[in-house]
This record gives sequence, C-alpha cells and structure tokens, in this order.
Amino acid sequence: MQIGIDRIHFAIPHYALNLRDLAQTRGVDPDKYTIGIGQDEQAVAPSHQDIVTLGAQAAFPLLKYIQSDRLAMVIVGTESGIDASKSSALYIHKLLQLSKWVRCIEIKEACYGGTAALMTARDYVATHPQAQVLVIASDIARYGLRTAGEVTQGAGAVAMLVSRDPHLLALNDDNVMMSEDIADFWRPVYQDTAIANGRYSTEQYIRFFQEIWQRYCQLHQRSFDDFAAICFHLPYTKMGLKALRHAMQASHLEAESTAYQRLMQRYTQSTLYSRRIGNIYTGSLYLGLLSLLENDTDILSYGDHIGLFSYGSGAVGEFFSGTLVNGWQNALYTNDHHSMLDAREYLSIEAYETMFNSAAPYSSDNYVTDACHRDGAQFFLNAITDQQRHYC
Ligand code: CAA
Repeated sequence: MQIGIDRIHFAIPHYALNLRDLAQTRGVDPDKYTIGIGQDEQAVAPSHQDIVTLGAQAAFPLLKYIQSDRLAMVIVGTESGIDASKSSALYIHKLLQLSKWVRCIEIKEACYGGTAALMTARDYVATHPQAQVLVIASDIARYGLRTAGEVTQGAGAVAMLVSRDPHLLALNDDNVMMSEDIADFWRPVYQDTAIANGRYSTEQYIRFFQEIWQRYCQLHQRSFDDFAAICFHLPYTKMGLKALRHAMQASHLEAESTAYQRLMQRYTQSTLYSRRIGNIYTGSLYLGLLSLLENDTDILSYGDHIGLFSYGSGAVGEFFSGTLVNGWQNALYTNDHHSMLDAREYLSIEAYETMFNSAAPYSSDNYVTDACHRDGAQFFLNAITDQQRHYC
C-alpha cells in the first residue's frame, strides 16, 4: 500500500517586505541579503493573522477532498504556538467546521514539527488504511527588528492531506533520524522572538545533514545519483545550499557530473518560493517541495525520487524520500500559489515596523487586532479578551 501526500497547499499573508529596502535602511549592502543570505522578500503578518488563521487558510482548499467519516486526525506542527497548553489544531478544527470525531493535537520540535506530524500521519494510515489525516505546518518566524536574524523572518503555513493511494507523493519508508541536545536556537515561553546562536546554528545544520546523509547512504545503499532532486528545510535559501555543497564535496562528487548539475539546478528551483516568503519554520521544507514541483513540471516525471531533509533546532534532523506518483501534476495548486504571491502588497519600512510591533503581545491584557490590512485573509483573530482568543 502506498501512503503519502495526497494534496498540499500553502497560505501566506498578503503583505511583504522587499529586502533590498530593508538592507538600505539598515545600512547593509543589499547583496549580503540577496546573495550572501539568499533572500529577496519576506512575508509580514498583520496582527489579525497567527498560526491558527494561516493554518486554516492553508487547509481550506483541501476540504473538498476530506471525507468526514475518514478524517481521523488534525495535527499541527508549529514552534510559534499561541498557547503553552491548548492545541492550535482545536481552533483550526473549529474554523474549518470539521467533524468532532477526530483527534486534534499539536507537535513541537522547532522546525522539525511539520515532519514529525507528517510521519505520525503516515504511521497512523499504515495501521488504519481508510483514514485521512490533515497535517498543518504553520509558523510566524520573528527574531526582532535590527537583529542578525531579521532578514530571515517570514510567515506562512502549509497544509497536507495524508492518505493511502496519494495523488502527489508516496512516502518511502526509509527515514533516518538523529537527535542531540544542543543550544543553537530556541524560544523561551515568555517571549515571542527566537534566540539564535546564528553561526553555530548553521554549522550544526551542516553537520546534521552530513552525518544523516552518510548513514542514509550506508543503510539504503543509495547515493546522490539516485535522486532527481533534494529539498531542504530552508531557514534562508543559502543554508540548504551550504549543506548540499558540503555533502557533495565529502562524497567527492565532481561538479561536472550529471548528478551534481541536476541537484544544483533543482535546488535553485526548490528555493524560489522561500526567497520571496522567508523562513516559515515547520513548513519551510514543504514550501521547498512545492517550489520544486510547481516551477519545474516539465522535467520531473512520474517515478522520480525526491529526497527531503528536515532540521529542527535543538536539534532533530531527518532525511527521507518520496516518489512522484502518476498524474502528480494534477494534484497541485500552482496557479493559486503564483497569484497569491504576485498579488501581495509591499510595505514601506515604516509600515513593516509598525506591523511587526502590533503583534498580539505576550500579556494578559485585553487586545483588539488591526481592523485594516485584512486583504487576502479568510480567517481572522479579532480580539483577545479575558485571556481567550476570538477568531472568525
Ligand atoms: N555580498 C555578498 N555576500 C555577502 C556580503 C556582500 N556584500 N556581505 C556578507 N556576505 C555573505 C557572507 O560572506 C556570508 O556568506 P557565507 O555564509 O557563505 O560565509 C553571508 O553573507 C552571511 O553573512 P554573515 O555570516 O556575516 O551574516 P550574519 O552574521 O549577519 O548572520 C545568520 C547570518 C547567522 C544566518 C543570521 O541571519 C541568523 O542568525 N539567522 C537566524 C538563525 C538561522 O537561520 N540559522 C540557520 C540554521 S538553524 C535552522 O535551520 C532552524 C531555523 O529554521 C532557524
């Protein structure tokens, strides 16, 4: 029985920042952001959007494929959760008016949470072949104004429907995972911005990929030649490139070889969306997969193997692969995604800073969200009163 991603769709805020403008204001050479870091634009979330509203919006188009009597779980992977106790899946479940006969949970392990959710879904379907599981990876990446991480912020959600006989990507049961307690990036519960040991985090990411890749190749007798493309978790687009280059060098793969050229070209295609959206943490790897598939439909084909590297600081890494199924192109929302990106409104630096500072505060005070800037959004956080969030 094949199990995998049946449908996949993403949602982003309607507002974006041009990072050349940000570089100019911060007194940085714009090439550092666009070439050195590999980011051109960044999605910016207005105060009425959070991981719940973005997650619901990402999942909304999948509703027509969900059968109430088959849906077993709604699993949200996130590292920018809105409550330390209650699962965001419950709020999304209500907004989408899903059947109550499901299990709603949230999974946390930094950017790895989306993959943990996907694998939980796959394992559930393996023992309950009729089941469908809705997996949502939703995050708003915030480092703070004028921080080194500011250029790598972003916001967005990816929703995936997981079932047997998937229409897009069958997941191969070849996962290799690795965990180590390290302090590269974390967010204490009392603050809404992350703490990053920037350079150390990039070194750890590269080391995790190298060690996991070597083990994967040993266990499964595979090499770079076996993959049509490899997608990476993308905290910024240069990051996956560094890891891929490092591992290809360690494997003595010649830059002139077909595998090297193919993987490099497809790596670039897998980063096109992230370049314009930024880091969406748990969803970033899957945004990369979508970018690859939706910008490259004429050269990838049915039966191609795609490698996926997931990394969550703290840290957990995992490499696994998927195989494109017959007719996979028909399961995509390419036009919808392209129009969403192209319709965005670009903010001045002043408007971006105001929007950034208007996010719902980590406090017990009552709070009302911005009544403006509601373009493109389907669901809203209206207010927080008596420490309860009110959505519509
Ligand atoms: N033109 C072209 N390139 C330039 C340049 C210019 N004028 N000026 C600098 N550069 C290059 C540098 O040479 C450097 O390239 P290499 O990395 O290839 O050496 C690159 O731009 C970045 O320069 P710095 O290292 O000086 O950048 P920085 O100190 O300002 O910080 C960062 C970069 C560490 C990524 C920072 O943005 C950060 O802390 N981000 C958040 C943490 C993060 O994303 N970590 C990634 C791994 S952890 C993870 O994956 C989980 C997650 O999602 C967070």
